[in-house]
Amino acid sequence: VIAALTPKQLSGKKIVMTAGPTFEPIDPVRGITNQSSGQMGYAMARAFAQAGADVVLVSGPVALATPLGVTRVSVQTAEQMRQAVMREIAQAQVFVGVAAVADYRPLEVAEHKLKKTASVDSDGGRTITLTPNPDILAEVASLPAAPYCVGFAAESQNLDDYAEAKRLRKRLPLVIGNLVSDGLGTADNCVTLYDETGRYPLPPLSKPVLARRLVDELAARLNKA
Ligand code: CTP
Ligand code: CA
Repeated sequence: VIAALTPKQLSGKKIVMTAGPTFEPIDPVRGITNQSSGQMGYAMARAFAQAGADVVLVSGPVALATPLGVTRVSVQTAEQMRQAVMREIAQAQVFVGVAAVADYRPLEVAEHKLKKTASVDSDGGRTITLTPNPDILAEVASLPAAPYCVGFAAESQNLDDYAEAKRLRKRLPLVIGNLVSDGLGTADNCVTLYDETGRYPLPPLSKPVLARRLVDELAARLNKA
């Protein structure tokens, strides 16, 4: 009864977020992707919805059910993810980039399935030319009326330096960093929060528990912002 009468922490907030990998096609049956399972993003979407937020989850291809109360927009490429985010962002108070967005995509997408022996290099190898993808999080953070922007930094080394550099470069109030040895594809996650006041290491937590903790961390910062 008490819980039902207590206003939820994120009531009245619209949160747009990205999750999962992107898939950048090479030809009709092949493409470039990564090992992101989407678990952290989906756990966060669920926790945000349970905290009363209106959640739009722009998701790359994952094998996960959409959390109850979450609006999911399914995309494949970074450019599709960017467009889906931009359609939703004007009304949002918060943007959270959890997706592992491909930094590059093939410059050309073959209309037909590539044949093994066609257009090989003189050394017998094969070259795919890549072109940069848009940085969705940096673009949202630089909007004139930018929402409160949260980034993730999954690094394999130098976590403090790289995470704080990302926060400053993309002009984010909050970055959530972890060493990939402690996170990617695993159940437990050990993260450190980086904001303008310093670094805040959290203990190792399961992704659902961490997601609820991040709701608290976000709500506290939104109340101060
Ligand atoms: N991100 C994004 N669009 C991209 C690349 C990254 O929105 N094209 C977001 C991710 O969702 C994440 C944050 O930016 O929240 C950091 O992503 P990351 O790949 O760690 O940063 P990069 O700037 O791409 O740097 P690098 O890959 O060199 O570490
Ligand atoms: Ca990247």
